[in-house]
Amino acid sequence: MGRWFSLYTEVLVRLLPEGDYALALEQLAEALPLEVAVVDRAGHVIVWNRALARATVPREQALGRPILEVFPGLAADRNHDWAASLDRALRDGRPDESPQVPLGDRVVRAVLTPLRRDERVIGAAFVVDDITDRVRTEERRLLRVRSEAVEALGAGIAHEIRNPLNALSLNLQLLCERLADPTTPRADLVGKADAMLAEMRRVDDLVTHLLEVSRGGPPTREPVRIDDVAGRVVDRLRATAERAGVALGLARGSVRTLALDPVRIDRALHNLVRNAIEAAPRGGHVWVATRDDPHSTVVVVDDDGPGIPPADRGRMFELFFTRKRGGTGLGLPLARRAVQDHGGEIEVLERPGGGARFVVHLPADGAGAAAGGTTWRAS
Ligand SMILES: Nc1ncnc2c1ncn2[C@@H]1O[C@H](COP(=O)(O)OP(=O)(O)OP(=O)(O)O)[C@@H](O)[C@H]1O
Ligand SMILES: [Mg+2]
Repeated sequence: MGRWFSLYTEVLVRLLPEGDYALALEQLAEALPLEVAVVDRAGHVIVWNRALARATVPREQALGRPILEVFPGLAADRNHDWAASLDRALRDGRPDESPQVPLGDRVVRAVLTPLRRDERVIGAAFVVDDITDRVRTEERRLLRVRSEAVEALGAGIAHEIRNPLNALSLNLQLLCERLADPTTPRADLVGKADAMLAEMRRVDDLVTHLLEVSRGGPPTREPVRIDDVAGRVVDRLRATAERAGVALGLARGSVRTLALDPVRIDRALHNLVRNAIEAAPRGGHVWVATRDDPHSTVVVVDDDGPGIPPADRGRMFELFFTRKRGGTGLGLPLARRAVQDHGGEIEVLERPGGGARFVVHLPADGAGAAAGGTTWRAS
């Protein structure tokens, strides 16, 4: 609406004889719900409409005075130098605008338009659009989204911890009963103790993942080669792959040095390769390959498992989404978050020949990080 007003004022100033346009502008300004001020060549107020008077000072106090003196909110705007803008508008005829100016307890959009007559700048119009309600509604929405995310995270954690705790106490109860019976075979006792250890590992995994959640945000970068990170991940998971009867291979194809957080990228690749090993059948394969594309450094993790059902594709990166008994469903969302915090992305594809393909893209210069890290969402 501010822009339309600016257009009208320009037309009025061109068409009406000098002396008449101020009155016409004033009448037009009064008809609008916007707050409008017009200044002359010297930056002194000649029009101050009622909406602006209601929000700031009465018209009589404003007329004839420098606008930034009677409109202290604009002068105090820390994101925008309105004195310089006004100067540019009046001297060079340059328009300006600011989408969000905090004015006391209000938020406004301000548009500054130079007024010309015969190509000469003869003044400028300030149009202020009160967008407080819109901004506050958006702030409330963001707050709601954030608290829903915290609630979902809390519910998920409670659920994830309660399951292994229940299993632990059940096994402990059974162990106590068996211990009381001297005829129980030792293997039975060891079996119960093993089951308890497995549940404790699950809680431990969950805590490790949650520590990563809280460690999110801007990565701590250092010069690293992705081949070295991928090499360490593959070496670490080799025993796991062997136990699962899966052949694990790495094709090193990147020579770039990137500025990365090696710990977080290591965890991300670890989660992807571990998922691939878990998906591949006994006798199957997992292939990890790196390469330098012109604009990104790429890590591909392939497996010849069942692939990802189309219905799961949109949900795999959701917090706590899992199809595994004992899975936390945190591996993929954390991997994606780590990569996104580096300014990259993880892509999920079908592997030609069957299975899943996860492609990690990292910016080639390693410096395209999302400022301040990504927002954590529970959806
Ligand atoms: N390579 C893959 N092939 C097929 N499905 C996969 C693959 N990787 C992930 N998925 C699917 O995505 C789900 C979520 O994976 P994610 O790593 O987030 O959690 P998880 O592996 O289930 O649990 P955790 O990582 O704690 O062991 C998995 O349960 C699985 O259904
Ligand atoms: Mg996983």
